[in-house]
Amino acid sequence: MEDLIFEKAEIALLTINRPKALNALNPPLLNNLAGLLLSIRHDHAVRVLIVTGAGDRAFVAGADIAAMSEMTSVEGLEFSNLCHRVMAAFEDLPIPVIAAVNGFALGGGLELAMACDLVIASDKARFGQPEINLALIPGAGGTQRLPHRIGQVRARELIMTGDMIDAKTALEWGLINKLVGAEQLLPEARNLAAKLAAKSGVALRQAKAALRASFTMEEDAGLRFEQSAFGLAFASADRIEGTKAFVEKRDPKWQHR
Ligand code: HXC
Repeated sequence: MEDLIFEKAEIALLTINRPKALNALNPPLLNNLAGLLLSIRHDHAVRVLIVTGAGDRAFVAGADIAAMSEMTSVEGLEFSNLCHRVMAAFEDLPIPVIAAVNGFALGGGLELAMACDLVIASDKARFGQPEINLALIPGAGGTQRLPHRIGQVRARELIMTGDMIDAKTALEWGLINKLVGAEQLLPEARNLAAKLAAKSGVALRQAKAALRASFTMEEDAGLRFEQSAFGLAFASADRIEGTKAFVEKRDPKWQHR
């Protein structure tokens, strides 16, 4: 899997590694990603995942346009389906996922960043959904996730014009959580990951599931889902420890169960 570099650890680092093509996503890479995400999902040693792009130019500059230029209509549909499965696999990981955006995050690259929980970007990052310039539309979740993240007005502007925005604008628009200098990107992502790794994994999992419900469910069902998720967190050994530690004025020791 040369197109992916996976450094397995409690805070794991996944690097999309096709720098010559600005880390564009082609079908073999996406299939490799799907397999890797499945193994991460079942690996309890990994507590937080950071995703970044190889090289100093791009996070991911989108789906591979050269590969798409060779596809039939049916293959194009299947390609969108594959992209969606990979984005859903990121979203459904029970652990927090941080996108460390080191350059262009365009098309499928922005869609990948939006399938992550938190986004830290360097001042070199550029964001956009330029598919319209290829007579295409976002096909890896962008028409749905972008308006949820930044609102209809700005999402329509990005998707219909294909324009790019810089990292400062992305921060102002609420598309990213934090903007840092290029050399600080991975250290800051690791700091944030360490902060998350120090929380109860059970509570993080339930928080993530309930937050996702706010995107996928009607409000009434989502509010009910939250109650169930709260109940599951409440049933954990970590909840007993967390509340007890507060009362006893000491730091909690999580078991992540
Ligand atoms: C394939 C790509 C690529 C892409 C860049 N490259 N983006 N290859 N797919 N998405 C390749 C170029 O062909 C070039 O290869 C090398 O990377 C460097 O790119 P340049 O264009 O020479 O760099 P620069 O002039 O600096 O421009 C950077 C750029 C531009 C603005 C990011 O590359 C660009 O506009 N890329 C396309 C972005 C895009 O449209 N993304 C959305 C794709 S559609 P060579 O071999 O010439 O050196 C999409 C749909 C998702 O994402 C859903 C699918 C279901």
